[in-house]
Amino acid sequence: MKIGVDYYPEQWDSSLWKADADLMAKTGVKLVRIGEFAWSRLEPKDGEFCFEWLDEVIKTFSRHAMGIVLCVPTSCPPLWLYETYPDIIRVDADGKKLQTGIRAHRCINAPMFNYFAKRIAEQLAQRYANDPAIAAWQIDNEIDAYPCTCEACQGQFRDWLTEKYDTLENINSAFGNSVWSGNYSDISQIKPPNSYPRAWQNPALCLEYSRFSSDSAIRFVKDIALVIKKVNPKAKVTSNLCFCDNMPDIYGISGELDFVSYDNYPPLKRDDKADEKLSAAFCLDFIRGAKQKNFWIMEQLSGPTGSWAPMSPAPRPGQIKGYAMQAMAHGADTVMFFRWRTAVSGAEMFWHGLIDHSNVPGRRFAEFAELCKLAPKLSVIETTELVSEIAVLYSSDNERAFDIQPQTEGFDYMKQLEAFHAAFTGYGANVDIVSPRTDLSKYKAVVAPAMFVYDKASAENIYRYVIKGGTLILTARSGVKDPVNNCIMETLPTVYREVIGAVVKEYDPIGIEEQTITDFAGNKYKCSRWCDILELGTARAYAEYADGFYKGSAAVTMNRYCSGVAYYIGTVCGSDFYRKFASNIMKQTGIPRLKDLPEGVEVTTRTNGLDDYIFFFNNSENEASITLPKEMPSIIDGSEKSDLKLGPFDMEIVRK
Ligand code: GAL
Repeated sequence: MKIGVDYYPEQWDSSLWKADADLMAKTGVKLVRIGEFAWSRLEPKDGEFCFEWLDEVIKTFSRHAMGIVLCVPTSCPPLWLYETYPDIIRVDADGKKLQTGIRAHRCINAPMFNYFAKRIAEQLAQRYANDPAIAAWQIDNEIDAYPCTCEACQGQFRDWLTEKYDTLENINSAFGNSVWSGNYSDISQIKPPNSYPRAWQNPALCLEYSRFSSDSAIRFVKDIALVIKKVNPKAKVTSNLCFCDNMPDIYGISGELDFVSYDNYPPLKRDDKADEKLSAAFCLDFIRGAKQKNFWIMEQLSGPTGSWAPMSPAPRPGQIKGYAMQAMAHGADTVMFFRWRTAVSGAEMFWHGLIDHSNVPGRRFAEFAELCKLAPKLSVIETTELVSEIAVLYSSDNERAFDIQPQTEGFDYMKQLEAFHAAFTGYGANVDIVSPRTDLSKYKAVVAPAMFVYDKASAENIYRYVIKGGTLILTARSGVKDPVNNCIMETLPTVYREVIGAVVKEYDPIGIEEQTITDFAGNKYKCSRWCDILELGTARAYAEYADGFYKGSAAVTMNRYCSGVAYYIGTVCGSDFYRKFASNIMKQTGIPRLKDLPEGVEVTTRTNGLDDYIFFFNNSENEASITLPKEMPSIIDGSEKSDLKLGPFDMEIVRK
């Protein structure tokens, strides 16, 4: 396992570089990421490149055998570039140009931006791509699929639509433009969604525009990767992904990268608001699923967060080290911390690094140093991966379509994925989060929450899986939309009716109101958000509604289909239901369950095919005890263990 840091040489006096490098080397840092915001220092004037300082930085760190992650600084073009080519700036939904002076405000479709972005990438590649000190390249920074409305984007969107639909007539018909007299009579009338509330706009246009914006980000990453690879085809290229409002399609963008990297800031605040965030375990599994391979953390939590919001509390003792190890437990092989030292200037001066403004290493740094010391002992894990028997399917089309048309108050697509993830991982099982188009045959159970937007390849893949003996769990709001985001004129869940052996007779979008369901064993659970009132065909009822006018109708069904089984959950429940449901599914499909794990303890397993390494992470502020079924050697201290005592945020790793 390698530990690294994010470093901003351009923000510090050069007299600090050597002392910083010395301390890093002494502490055990193996990788340093530099340069993602340094364009104005690398090219202070048009065509005037200034790389000597970067040579010096690279030399300073590589002298200690630290690898460099060099970034292509396209997220922060210099001001002279904006001044010369004002058209490279993003335009918002109101048609207003963003202001310069912040970051990531360039439009990735603007021709002049692309020209200069490729030029700086080429210059960097020519100088460094064959330098053995360069371990990897990061393209841009947290690239998003911002729905820019500049002229270039509008023109390219029209081309994108023409390529897809061929004629204006086809576009009109696909978009259902007869509604509200929306027919285009000329291609120039096609415009991006505007700043009116989404509810007023054509959902087909909105979905297509977000797909176009995503394709644009993917195209940009691909172009820059090509520039680097032209100089060194063996260069390893990544881009640091994050959960943001306009995330490009994760499977599409990862396809352009040699490995996936992720910015990992687990929630520090344990209050209601933090509950709105996705759990770190979920996010890490989501990122691993992008390429179904191990990944890197490019930015890892180092201190109190802030700047974009009021500051969070300081990470509690154990959290700096524990959260980094939690990432490893989910497939990270390298963890780089953001950032070495807290900035003393600029907008982010209160987003803390490992070392505070004082430049005096403190408690958090000491914990980081402990992790660096431990890392070499974990090298045995580097050749291991997580193998999962359970998959939860994610599709960016579904996520975007629900964003465009939220279904009911509180109905949240990602939270549904997370609820299933939490239920299965709660029994110590590995869970993959993958594309509905991926080969599902290796999974014993596949959860397909709210397959809202129809995609032929995904639907066929799901059928193939069940036909061959798989266990599928499908949920409400599946099969609702055609691929362009129009409703399908068929009984719900349309294409999935046959596999679930039931139909939706009517639905009740109850939002935050509550209903009750009773399962076949008589257990009662609260449900809300949405109630599909199901009529059984070949399926049997697993649970029925207990209240109101559809009392006694099926809410959850089970159907044998060919060699497989398909469950349909027509409502949204609380964790009590999902936990019991997951337990039943695991029992039936022969997936081992660890029962009675203490609250907050997360268990994952990494394997190399011969040896299994079990990670026990205490993601809580309380002590936790676990009794192992037999003595197992600890990778951390080498001793044989049969009883684990984990302090807050402690990790133990044993070989099975
Ligand atoms: C990330 C970003 C970093 C820094 C960090 C803390 O999203 O990539 O550059 O801004 O957050 O805010």
